[in-house]
Amino acid sequence: MGSDSPVGPVLMLGGGLAAISFVTTLRGNGFAGEVCVVETEAEPPYDRPPLSKDFQREGDSEKIRLDISRAPNVEWMRGRTATAIDTRQRRVRLTDGTELGYATLVFATGARPREIPALRDAGVPLFTLRTLEDARRIRAVLVPGARLLVIGGGVIGLELAATARGLGCEVTVVEAADRLMNRCCPTTLSSLVADCHRAHGVDLQLNTQLKGVDGARVALSDGSTLEVDAVILGIGVVANDELARAAGIACDDGIFVDAFGRTTCPGVLAIGDVTRQRNPLSGRFERIETWSNAQNQGAAAARALLSTEPAPFVELPWYWSDQFEMKMQVVGLAAGDAEIVRGVPASGGKFALIQVRHGRAVGVACVNNAREFASLKKLLALSHLPDVAALADPSTDLRKIIQRAI
Ligand code: FAD
Ligand code: APR
Repeated sequence: MGSDSPVGPVLMLGGGLAAISFVTTLRGNGFAGEVCVVETEAEPPYDRPPLSKDFQREGDSEKIRLDISRAPNVEWMRGRTATAIDTRQRRVRLTDGTELGYATLVFATGARPREIPALRDAGVPLFTLRTLEDARRIRAVLVPGARLLVIGGGVIGLELAATARGLGCEVTVVEAADRLMNRCCPTTLSSLVADCHRAHGVDLQLNTQLKGVDGARVALSDGSTLEVDAVILGIGVVANDELARAAGIACDDGIFVDAFGRTTCPGVLAIGDVTRQRNPLSGRFERIETWSNAQNQGAAAARALLSTEPAPFVELPWYWSDQFEMKMQVVGLAAGDAEIVRGVPASGGKFALIQVRHGRAVGVACVNNAREFASLKKLLALSHLPDVAALADPSTDLRKIIQRAI
């Protein structure tokens, strides 16, 4: 891997959170060269997390705009899509035929929702959620009494299910696996999330898949049928890495990058959801699909580009999710070989779950416990576990426990 080319002109493909973090950091660190951002969406940049939460309730797109004021003198080419790159000539072609040169190319193309092609013509209103436009369309169907089928009990499906219940919809969630949020949360938390959704009247079907759709009538794999007004798919995302792959850059549902955001092609970086990077805890190359990764990996790659002695990006992956009364924050691995419970593990409770592997903490999930999350994160940097009884007792002062263990 390596980028020993001159830094500018810098050409960004994609203008989401990772790209904005990158260009803001470039300018913040004194880079005065040319920067151009090519972005498919014509919409001014916005934050995605509210799309499944506050935006559905409030519908205020101005409230969710991302701040680009600290990235002055950037040429924004909105409503344009890159369609091919020539890494030898260092040129990129756009849909309208425009060709742009670069010294540094940055893939910040994110990901897109996985689809079930057979559903497209099934005759039922079908939605996925990634863009503001998707969110506006969904918002129009989340009216009291609407019968909604959510396919996929992951982060997006469950946040939308919770929001939709709050808006008075009838919601069924079908999840193929035996537990919710299985990609990214501990099993104990999965069951509490399930309890919470059921307590709020969500009809939750685990180990279940969609079998067929005929207009408003939907058949499930357990033999049941139901009438719905809309189907929302939340079955994961795929990386927008096709252009990189076509250019011979190493990819596998995500562009491989090192800890400096460098791809296998000189002069080409990648940041955010589109990347596959080494998770410092699992040691594996993974896609880390979180807001904090887009923000911080983007900034770290920009700093590295400008530095002769760059610092590697080794942040532990973490995300948050809000569903009904559960405000969750999860860092590190979702599973260990033991779990410490701190507080009252109930959907309305305030608690933390600490995953332990080989005598050290490898993951923490906090619910309604933002104050302790920052301290608990520090456990993951320790080579051994502090006093387990003290950790499990919510009346103890975490900062002191961790301080003593350092
Ligand atoms: P994106 O934001 O996807 O930006 C990529 C951009 O590239 C897109 O705007 C796209 O149009 C553009 N693009 C793609 N291909 C091309 C091309 N060929 N040419 C030009 N432009 C192109 N994370 C959390 O941690 N907590 C949450 O609660 C949370 N909630 C979320 C809720 C929703 C509804 C969604 C969708 C995501 C949520 N996330 C959450 C995840 C977080 O928003 C993403 O990890 C983050 O937005 C990724 O940023 P990115 O810049 O890498 O990609
Ligand atoms: N039927 C039912 N469930 C399915 C099916 C299917 N055919 N296919 C997949 N699933 C389930 C998975 O088992 C998983 O629980 O869908 C869920 C998808 O969950 P996530 O991987 O969390 O994906 P999603 O909820 O779509 O979130 C996508 O949103 O918050 C962001 O950045 C985050 O990238 C993530 C994105």
